[in-house]
Amino acid sequence: MDNRPIGFLDSGVGGLTVARELMRQLPHEEIIYIGDSARAPYGPRPAEQIREYTWELVNFLLTKDVKMIVVACNTATAVAWEEIKDSLSIPVLGVILPGSSAAIKSTTKGHIGIIGTPMTIASNIYEQKIKALAPQMEVLSLSCPKFAPLVESNEMNSSVAKKVVYESLAPLVGKVDTLVLGCTHYPLLRPIIQNVMGPQVKLIDSGAECIRDVSVLLNYFQLNRSREVSTVKHRFYTTANPGSFKAIADQWFDQKIEVEHVDLSQLDNQIEME
Ligand code: DGL
Repeated sequence: MDNRPIGFLDSGVGGLTVARELMRQLPHEEIIYIGDSARAPYGPRPAEQIREYTWELVNFLLTKDVKMIVVACNTATAVAWEEIKDSLSIPVLGVILPGSSAAIKSTTKGHIGIIGTPMTIASNIYEQKIKALAPQMEVLSLSCPKFAPLVESNEMNSSVAKKVVYESLAPLVGKVDTLVLGCTHYPLLRPIIQNVMGPQVKLIDSGAECIRDVSVLLNYFQLNRSREVSTVKHRFYTTANPGSFKAIADQWFDQKIEVEHVDLSQLDNQIEME
């Protein structure tokens, strides 16, 4: 048993889609979440900057004594997951491997689409991981730089969002049977994405898939939180204005949460070796 919380990080509100899955699949576990909305989106930034920012968020979570870290951001996973995982003594999970395996399981014709931020798509990491497991798969990747900013500004239900998603996904329509939502912000646009791609296309939520792995690791390392601890108090932090983060989170979780502001000057990007 280990009653410490599980740390989640993202460039902003996208990781909330992963956190909601944790609440659903593992309701006894407690979450410490940090979203770097002040510097989102990460996707168009250079790899070295994304790596530095990601370490700052990891170090923040380590000060909160977490028992495991979920890198609930595909962009940060693509750039820094291996390095973070190799440096820390606690388990660190990313969202890309679970999404890749789920896509292989789901596809019927072997035609898999990947959508993600400019960095995730440029890294080609999904295609590499999918082909390493199943070389016969055909993978079509598409960068969608406008999606995460739409979500960060809480415009995911607007007519602008519908137009942007419709225009951006046009190159993939009719070409894939499975589409990986390779950015944790995208499940917040899921109804529009499904509508554009058509009901026959299976959408893979890489974050939700990752929580299955969290559960396996908690069992394997005997890190589950005791069911005798009756209170579960999640804590959410953002580097931006807590108001807009809270508006999106309350809607997504369908319950009121408390959000605290963390100033960027409080973050430290030293690489932590445990
Ligand atoms: N949520 C992030 C991801 O999964 C990144 C969005 C962004 O900041 O560009 O890739």
